[in-house]
Amino acid sequence: MKIVLGLSIVLAIAPVAQAADVEAGKAKVATVCAACHGAAGVSVSDAIPNLAAQRPGYIEAQLKALKDGTRKNAIMNAIAAQLSAEDMANVAAYFAAQTGAATGAKSALLPNVVKTSVTFPEGYKDTFTKYHTINFPATKQVRYYYANKAAVTSAKAGKPLPEDSVLFAEVYAAKLDAENKPVMGGDGFYVAEKLILYTAMARGAGWGRDIPEMLRNGDWNYAVFTTDKQHRPGVNQAECLACHKPLDKTSYTFTLKQLADAK
Ligand code: HEC
Ligand code: HEC
Repeated sequence: MKIVLGLSIVLAIAPVAQAADVEAGKAKVATVCAACHGAAGVSVSDAIPNLAAQRPGYIEAQLKALKDGTRKNAIMNAIAAQLSAEDMANVAAYFAAQTGAATGAKSALLPNVVKTSVTFPEGYKDTFTKYHTINFPATKQVRYYYANKAAVTSAKAGKPLPEDSVLFAEVYAAKLDAENKPVMGGDGFYVAEKLILYTAMARGAGWGRDIPEMLRNGDWNYAVFTTDKQHRPGVNQAECLACHKPLDKTSYTFTLKQLADAK
C-alpha cells in the first residue's frame, strides 16, 4: 500500500518530458541571454556565470527556482519571470551543446545593449530637484537623487514620467571614523566625503528601439558617468535594464513615490 502510494506521487510530480528546440533556444540566447552570458555561453564578466557545456537539467532547475523566487538574484529573477517552461528547456539544451570555455575567456558586450543616448546633465545642480538620499551600509556610500522638472511635474501629478525625463544620482564614499565606520551627519545620513561616480536614467523618443523586449524599459536608457562627466567604459546596460524591468508600473523607477513627495 505504502509503496504504491509513494510511486504514484513520484509519477505525479515528475516533469513532463519536453522535446527541446535547440534552434529556438539559440535565437532566444542570441537576443537576450548573450548580453550577459555570451552568445555561446561564455559570459561577459567575472560576476556572471558561464553556461556553455552546463548540464541541461541543472540550467532548467535554476531557471525554475529563479522564476518562482526560491533562488534570489534581482537580475535573473526579472529575466526568468519572462521565460516559459518551453523557453527554459530550449535555452538549456542550447547552452548544454556549447563547448566549455577556456579559463579566463570572456565574450564582448553586445553593442545594441551597451549603446546609450543618455548624456551628462550639465547644470543639474541649478535646474534639477534633489528629491531623495539613501545610505548604503554595505558599501559605505551615500547617494543623492536628483530629477529634472519634466519628471518632478509628472510624478507630482500622478502621471507616468514623460519623454525628456532625467533621473540622476551622485554616489559618494562616506567619511569614515577611526573604526572605519561611516560618520553620521545631523540629518541622519552619512557625511559624504568623495564623489565616486554618477548614475543616470533618462527617456527619449525611440531610445528603446534596439533593445530586445525582455530587457527593454520602454524608451528609457541608462548610463554611468565618471567624476569628470565621461561615460564610464565597460558598463553593461543589460544589467540596469534587467533589474529595473519589473517596475513598469512606476515608470521603471524605484523612487517614484519619493519623487512625487519632493519639496
Ligand atoms: C543582465 C545580465 C543577464 C542576462 C541578460 C541574463 N543573465 Fe542569467 N545570470 C546573470 C547573473 C548575474 C547570474 C548570477 C546569479 C546569481 O549570482 O545568483 C545569472 C545566472 C544564471 C543562471 C544560473 C547559473 C548557475 O550557475 O547557477 C542561469 C541558468 C541563467 N542565468 C540563465 C540565463 C538565461 C537563459 C538568460 C536569457 C534568457 C539569462 N540568464 C540572461 C545575468 C544575466
Ligand atoms: C540589482 C538591481 C539593480 C541594478 C542592476 C541597477 N539598479 Fe538602478 N536601482 C536599483 C534600486 C533598488 C534603486 C532604488 C534606490 C537605490 O537603491 O539606489 C535604483 C535606483 C536607480 C536610480 C534612481 C531612480 C530610481 O529608479 O529610483 C537610477 C538613476 C539608477 N538606479 C540607475 C541605474 C543604472 C545606470 C544601472 C546600471 C549601471 C542600474 N541602475 C542598475 C536597482 C538596480
